[in-house]
Amino acid sequence: MRSLLFIPGDSPKKLDKGMTSGADALIVDLEDSISPERKSQARETALAFIKQAGTSKTRPRLLVRINGLQTGLTDADLDVIVAGRPDAIMFPKAEGGAAVTHCDAKLTAREAMHGLPAGSITMVAIATETAKALFLAGTYADASPRLTGLTWGAEDLSVELGAEANRDKDGNFLDPYRLARSLCLAGAAAAQVQAIDTVYVDFRNESGLRRECEEARRDGFTGKMAIHPAQVPIINEVFTPTAEAIAKAKTVIAAFAADPGAGTVGIGGLMYDRPHLERAKLLLARTNQS
Ligand code: COA
Ligand code: MG
Repeated sequence: MRSLLFIPGDSPKKLDKGMTSGADALIVDLEDSISPERKSQARETALAFIKQAGTSKTRPRLLVRINGLQTGLTDADLDVIVAGRPDAIMFPKAEGGAAVTHCDAKLTAREAMHGLPAGSITMVAIATETAKALFLAGTYADASPRLTGLTWGAEDLSVELGAEANRDKDGNFLDPYRLARSLCLAGAAAAQVQAIDTVYVDFRNESGLRRECEEARRDGFTGKMAIHPAQVPIINEVFTPTAEAIAKAKTVIAAFAADPGAGTVGIGGLMYDRPHLERAKLLLARTNQS
């Protein structure tokens, strides 16, 4: 998944618009974009939408962001939306692998109640939204076979830290949030799941978004969340491996294939060793999925 577009779960109009946005995934939100009074209505609107959208042949993946374990709302969210068989749950304010295992059990119970295969609904966790979560970012490996991705958030974390801002005047993330970003990246690699970059809230600023996408790709993220449909084409473009990158990866793989016992090869005057081969294979694997 290159692009994951957030849509408030109580807005049928935006939900419909999401279907033609070109996003690889939609995140139907029941959490921060929904006021407490509208949670119940949003659950029903979200359920109707995923039931309907799920029947469409060419559709994005459908995720639902539920409310975190700390809120006491998680069970009520799952009681409603699992009936619509979303592809995945986005699990916010996750505090380490134990919390993922806890959420996994809740899902397993609902899957059984609705006759769905155990484990059929996957999970993406938001791994850096509380201070405690930062210290648990390395605990996601083997927490649940459902876990396919980790992402990170700066907004809730900045509230918890008591910060005045999370970005500097040029729009760059400040130190605590760069740490959170790095912990998400390393945590995802340690758990062997996709690392997904956080949202870019200045949604009219296309050049700022593009720069942030390019920095994320450079560092190892393979997708980014969006909050507005206009962000989707830029995210898709940056996270689609270029023809040049694919050709280069194929050259590296071919060079090692031609000399199977080699630990290193020379291509165009540069040394390539086994990690380069691994990177080339990962890049090609990404071109076969969106
Ligand atoms: N998904 C689908 N459609 C969206 C959308 C989204 N996230 N954001 C905007 N749109 C639609 C609008 O409804 C509008 O549709 P229309 O042309 O048919 O009227 C069109 O795209 C253009 O929207 P625009 O006027 O530029 O923005 P806005 O002022 O209506 O909305 C936000 C701005 C920020 C309120 C809106 O983008 C939004 O709700 N984003 C998601 C917020 C969210 O889920 N946050 C939680 C995660 S951080
Ligand atoms: Mg939040």
